[in-house]
Amino acid sequence: MSQELRTVWWEAEHVCLIDQRRLPHVQVTVYCTQLSEVAAAIKGMVVRGAPAIGCAAAYGIALVAAQSSSTDASPLLAELVAAQRLLDAQRPTAVNLAWATARMVARAQELAPQGVASIRTGLLDEAHAILAEDLAMCHAIGDYGAPLIPARGRVLTHCNAGGLATAGYGTALAPIRTAFAQGRPIHVLVDETRPFLQGARLTTWELQQAGIPLTLITDSMAGYMMQRGAVDCIIVGADRIVANGDVANKIGTYSLAVLAHAHDLPFYVAAPSSTIDLGLSDGSQIPIEERSSDEVTHLAGQLIAPPGVLAAHPAFDVTPYHLVTAIITERGLIYPPFDDGLRSVATSSGRT
Ligand code: MRU
Repeated sequence: MSQELRTVWWEAEHVCLIDQRRLPHVQVTVYCTQLSEVAAAIKGMVVRGAPAIGCAAAYGIALVAAQSSSTDASPLLAELVAAQRLLDAQRPTAVNLAWATARMVARAQELAPQGVASIRTGLLDEAHAILAEDLAMCHAIGDYGAPLIPARGRVLTHCNAGGLATAGYGTALAPIRTAFAQGRPIHVLVDETRPFLQGARLTTWELQQAGIPLTLITDSMAGYMMQRGAVDCIIVGADRIVANGDVANKIGTYSLAVLAHAHDLPFYVAAPSSTIDLGLSDGSQIPIEERSSDEVTHLAGQLIAPPGVLAAHPAFDVTPYHLVTAIITERGLIYPPFDDGLRSVATSSGRT
């Protein structure tokens, strides 16, 4: 992705989002002027990817503070908590969303004794900080993850865990970008990622913009490619990593992890500390978002199944920790057993 193209930003009292539903063919910005528009943009996948929705939600909270007519801190805090509840409900699996809104509300509570004006400016600064920190974390993930890519450099990835899913640079795509920038041979196999096609539409586009060689495959081709020796490692992002190392990520990730295990291939998960949730002990407790069956029965707005067919649409699955080779974070690599390493990364980044 070119440096100029941003995923989430603040401009003239608006939360601005590149419309990821229209990419790669149309580049348009959605300007959210109200909290309800930010919430709808998160739910409707204008902005998607766990860290990016966290950043958008943080700006959504700042927007509420900027627009509030409250002159006292206490009613403003109540408005912010209501906004937090609304935003958190939009996408339940990605913990970065609730992490970002909780951080924003906590900051507002800290600033409350100084009054409403301080809350307003402080929250905007905090949202900017969340965005800037996410970008820095992605670059650090790239530095730690690049050496893991085997010499032949054939990496398979799923969904879009690139710059569009973050403040920039990406998580799963970060080691790939860094290795490529180091002059290493890289070729990325991109799963199309049914049903929303984040791989076919977004990851292909980002890699193409960066000049990184790629081949698009359907999700069902992954096993064939591994069996033929066309894959050296798999790197995916995450929406939530719980205390034992179980990982929620885009539907289809679990199947890839099983395939990687069957073919004795390393399976890496790249994620910032904001994706770690030590409050849940294992993956069975992770809420899995169910999305509309229309996203399965339709392709690019066209009905592809007979009218009336019911389609399942769990948007995420959980990969058990024993199928994960290592977790790549901004603070380094975590190897099994994951619990101690996750606790240490979460604690050192203030994520308890
Ligand atoms: O439904 P999406 O497109 O928001 O799902 C995105 C993913 O599953 C990503 O892999 C994950 O959020 C990590 S993004 C850095």
